[in-house]
Amino acid sequence: MLYLSATNPCYPVLKNQTVAILGTGNIGRALLGGLLRGDDLPAERIRVTRRTPPALDALAEQFPGIQTGTDNVAAAQGASVIVLAVKPQHIGGLLGQIRGHVAPDAVVLSVLAGITTDAIREALGDEIAVVRAMPNTPALVDEGATAIAAGQHASEAHLVLAQEVFESVGKVEVIPESLMDAVTGLSGSGPAYVYMVIEALTDGGVKQGLPRPTSLRLAAQTVLGAAKLAVETGKHPAILRDEVTTPGGTAIAAVADLESHGLRTMLINAVATATQRSQELSKIE
Ligand SMILES: NC(=O)c1ccc[n+]([C@@H]2O[C@H](COP(=O)([O-])OP(=O)(O)OC[C@H]3O[C@@H](n4cnc5c(N)ncnc54)[C@H](OP(=O)(O)O)[C@@H]3O)[C@@H](O)[C@H]2O)c1
Repeated sequence: MLYLSATNPCYPVLKNQTVAILGTGNIGRALLGGLLRGDDLPAERIRVTRRTPPALDALAEQFPGIQTGTDNVAAAQGASVIVLAVKPQHIGGLLGQIRGHVAPDAVVLSVLAGITTDAIREALGDEIAVVRAMPNTPALVDEGATAIAAGQHASEAHLVLAQEVFESVGKVEVIPESLMDAVTGLSGSGPAYVYMVIEALTDGGVKQGLPRPTSLRLAAQTVLGAAKLAVETGKHPAILRDEVTTPGGTAIAAVADLESHGLRTMLINAVATATQRSQELSKIE
């Protein structure tokens, strides 16, 4: 995988850009918050759009100084970084609106599941630089996992800008676009799987007599702590699991139970199913 460094003086830096976020829902709003919490980009150089004026008023109140509006063309014109963050079913109309209004040196960052950089270039104009990203909802608490991939005309400098945008809300991996559906199946959709695990662990604790709020806090913190240990130590998960499983003890008894019910196969298949669905969505409607 490509390793990028933003320290190269030839690269543009985010603080000098004008950023338009088109479709400021969950993901767009997370990025907006992250960008404003970062060091340098002034709020006045961030433009955000939605179709619902009261929702825009709420954004303007929460993030003073940003420019809000329903006009995607006005937001895109003159912006050097354009983030596409609408749902896939709305992207066709949005691209039709902004076609011809994207500056030739702008970079378009798309977070849309299943929509390829080629499809966006075809809709916007062949020479446009497009970087595709797959973030996830923990970006809302600055713990996002985002993969980014360069489209045909996107340079390393564009990738560095994209990396800066998404590092404002978590960790970033640079991958070839051919792996983007797999990322969608893993980290893009993955929070849903983890919430099911937290919910089920909570029920398990309740079944054994724990009060539900206590059980939920213990389950969620166990997932958070286990993930943190894996990330911070870099140890293989099997080694970390071995460290919890005393011979003849409680954890190994439960691990054997999980294995007999195929937990790992279930999760492997879940990622495959979501990956396949992402591939199916890759046509602009
Ligand atoms: N949620 C996730 O976990 C996740 C993870 C990775 C990637 N993604 C991708 O991120 C994208 C956004 O997802 P989301 O969860 O943030 O969806 P969302 O909360 O529904 O946000 C989309 C926003 O787009 C706005 N919108 C729709 N049409 C528009 C238009 N023509 N012009 C301007 N704004 C428009 C909607 O607001 P109005 O109704 O007010 O217009 C809405 O707030 C999706 O394409 C998804 O594939 C999501």
